[in-house]
Amino acid sequence: KSILLLNGPNLNLLGTREPHIYGHTTLADVEANSRAHAAKHNATLDAFQSNHEGALVDRIQAARGRVDGIIINPGAYTHTSVAIRDALMGVGIPFIELHVSNVHAREPWRHHSYFSDKAAGIIVGLGVYGYQVAVEHVAVNFEERVK
Ligand code: DQA
Repeated sequence: KSILLLNGPNLNLLGTREPHIYGHTTLADVEANSRAHAAKHNATLDAFQSNHEGALVDRIQAARGRVDGIIINPGAYTHTSVAIRDALMGVGIPFIELHVSNVHAREPWRHHSYFSDKAAGIIVGLGVYGYQVAVEHVAVNFEERVK
């Protein structure tokens, strides 16, 4: 299977950004670890991070017909982006929504997501371990759509 891992704004600062909330692991470590866990399950994984909404939309559109599942941590766009939601709906690729922190234990405006009602599953508050869980779930349980 082929997996696309997407991270939104400020997740390039993972490991150094508010470590009491997001931990000490860097995005490079998360991506390498995700790739390794995908490989363990005979899946391939591409990773992309951007601080720009349109770049994330472009990357989702480029994945059309090319990947079996998307794992996305939209960062702050979780709470604002109709455009990224529409892109995911537009390409018809099932996706997992992931948050490192427990957004429901934080500010009330972080409780609403433009993605949750369309996600195949949601992982919240498991720290960076959530990425491993998401990768294994997609690799093992998602349908193989791209041959
Ligand atoms: C986040 C939670 C969002 O509310 C926040 O804006 C982020 C990261 C998380 O992984 O916990 O940038 O998606």
